[in-house]
Amino acid sequence: MVAFKSVSTPELATLSQIRLTALSRLAPEVADFLEGGAGDEITLAANRSAFSRWGFRQRVMSGRATPDISTSLLGIDLAMPVLTSPFGADGLFHPDGQKAVARANLSAGIAGIVPEAGTHALEAVAEAAPKAARIAQLHPMGPEANFRHMLRRIEQAGYEAICLTVDCPTGGWRERVLRNAFDLDAGFVNGNYPDSGETKLIEVFGQLFERCATVWSWQRLSELMAETDLPWIAKGIMTADDARAAEAAGAGAIYVSNHGGRQLDGVPAALDALIEVKAEIGQRLPILFDSGVRRGADVVKALALGADVVVIGRLAAYGLVAGGQAGVERVHSLLYDEIRTVLTLLGRGGVDELGPDSLLPLPALVSVV
Ligand SMILES: Cc1cc2nc3c(=O)[nH]c(=O)nc-3n(C[C@H](O)[C@H](O)[C@H](O)COP(=O)(O)O)c2cc1C
Repeated sequence: MVAFKSVSTPELATLSQIRLTALSRLAPEVADFLEGGAGDEITLAANRSAFSRWGFRQRVMSGRATPDISTSLLGIDLAMPVLTSPFGADGLFHPDGQKAVARANLSAGIAGIVPEAGTHALEAVAEAAPKAARIAQLHPMGPEANFRHMLRRIEQAGYEAICLTVDCPTGGWRERVLRNAFDLDAGFVNGNYPDSGETKLIEVFGQLFERCATVWSWQRLSELMAETDLPWIAKGIMTADDARAAEAAGAGAIYVSNHGGRQLDGVPAALDALIEVKAEIGQRLPILFDSGVRRGADVVKALALGADVVVIGRLAAYGLVAGGQAGVERVHSLLYDEIRTVLTLLGRGGVDELGPDSLLPLPALVSVV
């Protein structure tokens, strides 16, 4: 069904198998870093269980055998409404990290968001797949000179948009990392700050956090982003109020996310926040969504509740661990095929036919992996 070929092996047979393969190959402390959330991991669990509270309102004798799932975001054409998220420390999962993700995205005809806290410099990721559509992620914090310098680098490397992670004024309270005394620096160098010699991830971000005596305001962000012509996305929006504030500051898209449950434990499932944000934003701006997406049916539910594009975090990382570029390609092709299968069975001819009437609340909680 999919427009590109992906390799299927028993280890890569399904998305849940790819996760199991990945977790069996990682050192336990790295698996915990990838899988874990903040605090009691209430939000981490809520992200997954939210999908089981929604069922499909299936129509029959309608739709298409080959539904159209192509779309676009901020002028970027996408073969399916899926992007890869900016997950940093990617070298822990595969030596090629986001370079392999970029190549897989190019094969699949989608785009990736390249992290500031990545193993490879944003220029190196661009060079790894020069024809791939790409978005660069930054943390709006620390010295303005550093932020401006990063904006120029992003422009020069040919990125098409910028994603600003606004839910990260400091790191989340991650107890699995504390329990394992996991030293991120031991196995990880930040590729975007090589000027600092041996500077490691925690040092760079520790410095940015510390120098950031006050959290940046929307006003300050708006002024700095007026210095670039690139459109920007506000990542980490969980309320209608912040969606309005981001829009007023000039954001070109709203990205509903709770960082996969890794930042503030106790915030609701991102899927619940999506409903609030969609009610506020309507059709004015495109909406991206992530947190807890593990299969194609989850993508379809998020689209029906108002997302225009769904972003995969851990799912892409599992593919990376399980098979490098080929593993991420397999994740993409499984998502592509499952999204189309679900749409056909749902009686909808394409993603543009999805809306709240495609879903209904399920009475009982069904447990999910
Ligand atoms: C290992 C790891 C590293 C991450 N690093 C970043 C980061 O540097 N910047 C960022 O905005 N989000 C980061 N995220 C969050 C993801 O971009 C995304 O919001 C989250 O993974 C979505 O939830 P999901 O994994 O349940 O799909 C990271 C996530 C993981 C798992």
